[in-house]
Amino acid sequence: MKTSHKIIYQDSQDLKQIPSNSVDLVVTSPPYPMIDMWDEMYCTQNPEIGNALEYGDGMLAFSLMHEILDAVWNEVFRVLKTGRFACINIGDATRTLNNNFKLYPNHARILTHLLDIGFSVLPDILWRKHTNAPNKFMGSGMLPAGAYVTLEHEYILIVRKGQKRVFSTDIEKENRRGSALFWEERNIWYSDVWMDVKGTGQKLANVNSRLRSGAYPFELPYRLINMYAVKGDVILDPFLGTGTTTAAAMTSARNSIGIEIDERFQSTINSVIWGILQFSNNYIHDRVDNHFEFVKNRIQNSKPLKYMNKYYNFPVMTSQEKDILLNTLKNVEVLEDNSVEVIYSLEPDTYDIDQIFIPITDKKLESSKMPIGHDIFAV
Ligand SMILES: C[S@@+](CC[C@H](N)C(=O)[O-])C[C@H]1O[C@@H](n2cnc3c(N)ncnc32)[C@H](O)[C@@H]1O
Repeated sequence: MKTSHKIIYQDSQDLKQIPSNSVDLVVTSPPYPMIDMWDEMYCTQNPEIGNALEYGDGMLAFSLMHEILDAVWNEVFRVLKTGRFACINIGDATRTLNNNFKLYPNHARILTHLLDIGFSVLPDILWRKHTNAPNKFMGSGMLPAGAYVTLEHEYILIVRKGQKRVFSTDIEKENRRGSALFWEERNIWYSDVWMDVKGTGQKLANVNSRLRSGAYPFELPYRLINMYAVKGDVILDPFLGTGTTTAAAMTSARNSIGIEIDERFQSTINSVIWGILQFSNNYIHDRVDNHFEFVKNRIQNSKPLKYMNKYYNFPVMTSQEKDILLNTLKNVEVLEDNSVEVIYSLEPDTYDIDQIFIPITDKKLESSKMPIGHDIFAV
């Protein structure tokens, strides 16, 4: 089993080398319009934006920046297959221009365009980011009408092209089952507010570039890829930055295409790729370990776990988890055309099911101990 990953340094407003209807999922985060760290990037792509900012015409600058993004969203719509999703992480911006403080609602502007070009909009995720600033409110504080609420969230917009995806053949169905999530992950990942994904979360190897990147945490694309695509799918990120989406696709046994306009990210992306084998395997191992912990806690609390996973031989909550296999990485090779090939193991990490019962002292649980290899475990 192998996947292929391409990284292309160019402008995403024109993706003609990617065929129409060829991509299974888009996961991305564009440069946020009206956040000053991205001014230069936008002004290089359209100098009129610089003029608008200089004159203090915030709404014109906002609108011109979004015209660049619109062109990319049009390409995203074209290259996606029917029934496939795009997940866009975006934050609104607050800014004072000409003494006028206001919010520039990037998420609303993007959603409006996505609707206009034919996407179906689905419920979004609020990514709650806690700032550590001591004075979090914006404005004077206690006096009415003098302060603004703190902006501590971003959005993950979720849209779909066309009708629901259909998995029709036996092979497609089997692959879908192998790509499933654990029940306890599902309960958190499909919640509409993500509070547990830290901006400074699990770090990819060597992402300490001196470039300001606006990188999202690995967990964010990783969850989305596992929620909205199956193994072997093609994931596109048209604003690749440091390569986080590529890393998440590699760890998830999905193929990927990453597009980045700024070639200065190349060395950072390369170091992510060099470190990916160890990073991914640790990550996968932790994910299975977390499930193992969940199982132990559940058994200690006398709650039912009805099924067994056929690869790991440990209990799971639902029949949909019986075929989950998180493939670890065996080899990563950079090919001559600059694409990267990843080869995966088809064997699961081995787990000693006896471990589950070691810490249990409760008599009631002892008596409900499941003989190893049994299909059903209910207490
Ligand atoms: C918010 S950052 C993405 C960060 C990325 N998610 C990560 O984890 O590193 C947006 C990226 O889009 C790139 N970019 C801006 N305009 C672009 C365009 N027209 N085409 C392709 N990339 C572009 C920027 O250089 C920047 O690296």
